[in-house]
Amino acid sequence: MMRTRPLKVALLGCGVVGSEVARIMTTHAADLAARIGAPVELAGVAVRRPDKVREGIDPALVTTDATALVKRGDIDVVVEVIGGIEPARTLITTAFAHGASVVSANKALIAQDGAALHAAADEHGRDLYYEAAVAGAIPLIRPLRESLAGDKVNRVLGIVNGTTNFILDAMDTTGAGYQEALDEATALGYAEADPTADVEGFDAAAKAAILAGIAFHTRVRLDDVHREGMTEVTAADFASARQMGCTIKLLAICERAADGASVTARVHPAMIPLSHPLANVREAYNAVFVESEAAGQLMFYGPGAGGSPTASAVLGDLVAVCRNRLGGATGPGESAYAALPVSPMGEVVTRYHISLDVADKPGVLAQVATVFAEHGVSIDTVRQSGKDGEASLVVVTHRASDAALGGTVEALRKLDTVRGVASIMRVEGE
Ligand code: HSE
Repeated sequence: MMRTRPLKVALLGCGVVGSEVARIMTTHAADLAARIGAPVELAGVAVRRPDKVREGIDPALVTTDATALVKRGDIDVVVEVIGGIEPARTLITTAFAHGASVVSANKALIAQDGAALHAAADEHGRDLYYEAAVAGAIPLIRPLRESLAGDKVNRVLGIVNGTTNFILDAMDTTGAGYQEALDEATALGYAEADPTADVEGFDAAAKAAILAGIAFHTRVRLDDVHREGMTEVTAADFASARQMGCTIKLLAICERAADGASVTARVHPAMIPLSHPLANVREAYNAVFVESEAAGQLMFYGPGAGGSPTASAVLGDLVAVCRNRLGGATGPGESAYAALPVSPMGEVVTRYHISLDVADKPGVLAQVATVFAEHGVSIDTVRQSGKDGEASLVVVTHRASDAALGGTVEALRKLDTVRGVASIMRVEGE
């Protein structure tokens, strides 16, 4: 039966995502009411610039006082799409204290303070949902938290940043260098004027922390995620990748150790076989590949950013939270019971592709091979091309720990015959 008193929603932020949330709430009002069991009403919109014209939004709802809005006491759900740590964190905790549930798209805040925010939601018997915080429209949080709640996830391997995927895809398909591809991404509006958060992997690391936490029922904070950006990837790296039947992607990788006793989370560029489903994720799309014990391999694909796709995820959460409120219940909160230790990067085990510039003379290959052997790193393949006494040596290893590989590279750099280490890239997804 339809309840006639509407559920009241406060929208914090009315930019690219917020304006789409408001638009869909209006245009789909009847469907949303039917799906929830009560109408939802936009009760207030907090913005920074009140004078901006906002099509479809009643100016009487607009306020610059977000704190007063979340303190009103009659708000059922606060939708936070302003991003950043403050004032979002204080507004969310204030919203819980004043009886509202919260839907957020704020990856940085959830990755940093998710545990404390969940605790605040629990204390007040309210919901905290954030499907939109990871990979825009793609359903990931709910599948991991609910659909796979009876399974055991062992690995999450994802392309969770559209800007960097666009740049790497452009480098792969056109042979462009990093700067040229970044300029194209900027001109087309994919990259921000300051692309640091994307290209240095901060954005992806926040998403990796959230995914790892949910997948492994363990608290994983942003600081636990090893992060390397993709600004050093070169056209030569792509040429090497091609020779191995691979491409290069910026990957977020969350893994359970082979003995199941610990987990790791990392973000870095990596070679991945062209046959892997993630290799075919083009342009600015996102995709996440999940490996679990019973289900096997699952792939989630779609637009990872943009106003409308992100609003889709926000609206899905809004419907779920509203249903919970009508039922007098709350949905799943934080699940961190496993409390597995998060291991440092040195304990990650994977394969490596190493390009060395070396002198081309008798004994060099043996010297290089000895260094690998001394550090317990087994070589899979070696490829050499030389000219005029100098050579390029590409070594691909079997699986080894990051610490062992790091020691190997340090020792290689000390060899007189090694002129330089041109690149080191991990090989994933095999
Ligand atoms: N800047 C991100 C991306 C979207 O390029 O995918 C928001 O997380």
